[in-house]
Amino acid sequence: KKSMPLFGKKVMVTAGPTYEVIDPVRFIGNHSSGKMGFAIADELVKLGADVTLVAGPTSLQADKTLKRINVVSALDMFNACTSIFSETDITVMCAAVADYRPKTVANQKIKKQDGDFILELEKTTDILASLGKSKKSNQILVGFALETNDEENYAKGKLEKKNLDLVVLNSLNDKGAGFKSDTNKITIFNKALEKTAFELKSKAEVAKDICEAILKITK
Ligand code: C5P
Repeated sequence: KKSMPLFGKKVMVTAGPTYEVIDPVRFIGNHSSGKMGFAIADELVKLGADVTLVAGPTSLQADKTLKRINVVSALDMFNACTSIFSETDITVMCAAVADYRPKTVANQKIKKQDGDFILELEKTTDILASLGKSKKSNQILVGFALETNDEENYAKGKLEKKNLDLVVLNSLNDKGAGFKSDTNKITIFNKALEKTAFELKSKAEVAKDICEAILKITK
């Protein structure tokens, strides 16, 4: 039992980028590889949890025993997350979700024209903030923050605004941290805004640190 401290707990993890379709051949995406979220999902499986991984487009493979829901767009991810969230004990939102999507999707490939091209974008729903609003007191919600400047203040702001229990900050200013790399350097803030800073480590080791912080607040 000691090696399976999350046995019986229902956990959801989001990972990877989202793709927002422009026309049949183009999309708006981002550099998220999904590696951090997949490492967290795999670690949560090892701790005994019943894990559902909601994954954006990535070629990564996760532990075969977990449930995986593949999604493409921010809207797909929102729908998958909101249909599962109320049943989860712990949710870790690691995906790099698009903040904007094309306002209209062209049915045919948009042809090259003379001069500039303006693409109108509309806001997507902030999935994490939306889950934070419906969160019950027995649920744990963990978010990520990736910032380039004034990162600690933004991270703490997100914790409060999105009603999180933990926020994991990774800065693009740290060498070897972030997108495609196999390593990451994180700082975790809890609800009391207490800060724990970690060294640069492999994403598998970082996943262990994040899960340990989750275990500390697991009810
Ligand atoms: O505010 P920001 O987008 O930087 O917050 C990042 C956190 O919010 C991450 O945990 C990310 O997974 C989540 N997020 C989300 N839905 C969005 C945007 C971000 O769940 N539309």
